[in-house]
Amino acid sequence: MAQSNVDNNTSVFCYKFPGVLFLILICIISISCNNNKSHSVQLVSSTRIIPANAWKAPNSTTIPKNKTGDMIRYGKELLAHTAKYFGPRGSIAQLSNGMNCQNCHLEGGSRLFANNYAGVLANYPKQSYRSGKIQPLSGRITDCFKRSLAGKVPDTNGREVRAMMAYINWIGQGVKKGKKLFGSATEKLTFLKTPADPHKGQAVFISKCKVCHGVDGEGLLAADQLTYTYPPLWGDHSYNNGAGMYRIGNLAGFVKNNMPFGATYKSPQLTDEEAWNVAAFINSQPRPHYDQRNDWKDLKNKPIDFPFGPYADNFSEMQHKYGPFGLMKAAQK
Ligand code: HEC
Ligand code: HEC
Repeated sequence: MAQSNVDNNTSVFCYKFPGVLFLILICIISISCNNNKSHSVQLVSSTRIIPANAWKAPNSTTIPKNKTGDMIRYGKELLAHTAKYFGPRGSIAQLSNGMNCQNCHLEGGSRLFANNYAGVLANYPKQSYRSGKIQPLSGRITDCFKRSLAGKVPDTNGREVRAMMAYINWIGQGVKKGKKLFGSATEKLTFLKTPADPHKGQAVFISKCKVCHGVDGEGLLAADQLTYTYPPLWGDHSYNNGAGMYRIGNLAGFVKNNMPFGATYKSPQLTDEEAWNVAAFINSQPRPHYDQRNDWKDLKNKPIDFPFGPYADNFSEMQHKYGPFGLMKAAQK
């Protein structure tokens, strides 16, 4: 009833006041034109060019047609549809929260500024400052299972982890050890002068993210109920607070170049400030806890945006979580 009253009122309004409607229309058009103008100015001024020699993933048609190739293809499948095999109703084991590795390592870990796997083969085993130990690739994969997939550890000698490694190593072929790679990990956005603001971030979330990720950031399960069409951003089925994405710098950089879905490094859809703020909002929401008492024992290696103390400096936990980071960074030097 209430709904139809509203409809009636609107149609009466339209009927009686076509002139008013016309004015409103003109206003909307001029506002959106102005918006477009400022948008394009902003994009032009921040010329975002991908260098011609930037890393490109090898073409998947070049995966060899033999047993090694079969492992690489299997690994690719597992990274893309992890939940089908390891999620809450996984066919191999029920270990993880239902997310896929590919939800954060986009396009099979081949995409710039989306946590790609370009540098993995060249640099692992690698010193992990988080654990203070030299870490093999299998251990890094396990880490993402425990933290990003908020789950349990798969058998690192099992066929599945070996297949994942085969694919990750295949994609990084030819990359030189220690070489600085354009577009690796996520973009380090310019620091804001004020703390990132979860309230402003909530407004960004509502207008730009909610449509896919859900009102409560809960994501949307696919019809098969096995995997997510849109992965969760917080809550019981999201990454835990020990995950890389729980650091605001990583999350903001990821969002800036990849979200809303379709945004790219060359044509981002959010300003840096919006990306920081929406990251602050997402990481201020509840999510599973991970015991991190043994992480970052060497305080001088702790990243400035690691949101749990103790720290080597005197800045508060709050400031390490939301910024501003400029003075902190300067103090580290
Ligand atoms: C919620 C997002 C998320 C998911 C899901 C996720 N990861 Fe990650 N992963 C990250 C982030 C962020 C980093 C890098 C940041 C950090 O922690 O230092 C990372 C780092 C890695 C690295 C190291 C890359 C490097 O260059 O050193 C590997 C390997 C990796 N992940 C594998 C996996 C695998 C395999 C899965 C699935 C089992 C997975 N990740 C799931 C977010 C995710
Ligand atoms: C059109 C739908 C859509 C919109 C709008 C959208 N996303 Fe996503 N988002 C996705 C999809 C799909 C993935 C997983 C990508 C994949 O698996 O290849 C994703 C993945 C993510 C991830 C990594 C995985 C996770 O769940 O933690 C984050 C973080 C994220 N989105 C944040 C955002 C934010 C912030 C916004 C708004 C600024 C946003 N998204 C808007 C579709 C969307």
